[in-house]
Amino acid sequence: MLSYRHLFHAGNFADVFKHALLVRLLAALARKEKPFCYLDTHAGTGRYDLEHAWAQKAREFEHGIARVWQRADAPAALAEYLALVRAENPDGVLRRYPGSPCIARRMLRPGDRMVLTELNRSDFAELAERFAGDRQVQVRRMDGYEALGAFLPPPEHRGLVLIDSAFDRAGEFARIAAALAGAHRRWATGTYAVWYPIVEPPAVRRFEREVAETGIRRILQLALEVAPERGAGALPAGWMHGCGMLVVNPPWRLDEEAGPLLDWLRAALGRNGHGAGAVRWLVPE
Ligand SMILES: C[S@@+](CC[C@H](N)C(=O)[O-])C[C@H]1O[C@@H](n2cnc3c(N)ncnc32)[C@H](O)[C@@H]1O
Repeated sequence: MLSYRHLFHAGNFADVFKHALLVRLLAALARKEKPFCYLDTHAGTGRYDLEHAWAQKAREFEHGIARVWQRADAPAALAEYLALVRAENPDGVLRRYPGSPCIARRMLRPGDRMVLTELNRSDFAELAERFAGDRQVQVRRMDGYEALGAFLPPPEHRGLVLIDSAFDRAGEFARIAAALAGAHRRWATGTYAVWYPIVEPPAVRRFEREVAETGIRRILQLALEVAPERGAGALPAGWMHGCGMLVVNPPWRLDEEAGPLLDWLRAALGRNGHGAGAVRWLVPE
């Protein structure tokens, strides 16, 4: 357990998808003056050195952020995310990739707050050092699912929870569905974003059913596939060919905004002309 290290994957197509949506979700919260709280249950180290040997091993970022970060034709909905990545690489060479904590930190206003939990000892140490002394950021070495019980509902009563599991142990889909149901019972009006890999589509369909059966309403489902599941153009068996995000209580109009955004990402990140994006209500109002 806990063998997963995000540095091997930083900046891949899944990070681009996840973080582009994260920025939209945080930007929506910042539209109203009232402060918000961001809880990142599986925070990672916060920022990734793409020149590190681990990131260089499979160079996953080449099929992800490297393809899009300097594109001038990106849709408006991606502009803020791409500007954040460019701000991390001011000399125009892609060396660093911001994780969800650094992305969120740049989007907090002075009255906003974030709570980051991470279980891996060394990733936690790096994360804690990164935000040491920052009074808007609380960093804890703890299980992300326990964090849902410990920190929800936040006193601000406005905010976003990102559940971005490493999926490095069996039963994770079921664990997430149960954790989401529990968190929603504690705090029904929060926005929750749950990222998941698409490796075995039947497992994803089971997860969708489990989440739908929790009784939670207003769940938007977004997905990006960069290669077909099988046949011509498919990636080797066991590789992640797509990923998705469930958003509970999405901000107004995310469903409309996400269509063109995913369409652009599909074209930019699809392998050899393959690629698909999808937005649908898993559970409506
Ligand atoms: C996909 S990475 C997170 C990436 C990060 N959210 C980002 O977008 O930059 C998943 C992280 O979860 C951590 N992790 C695994 N199981 C955990 C658990 N039960 N609670 C908290 N963190 C966990 C891993 O060590 C890993 O750093």
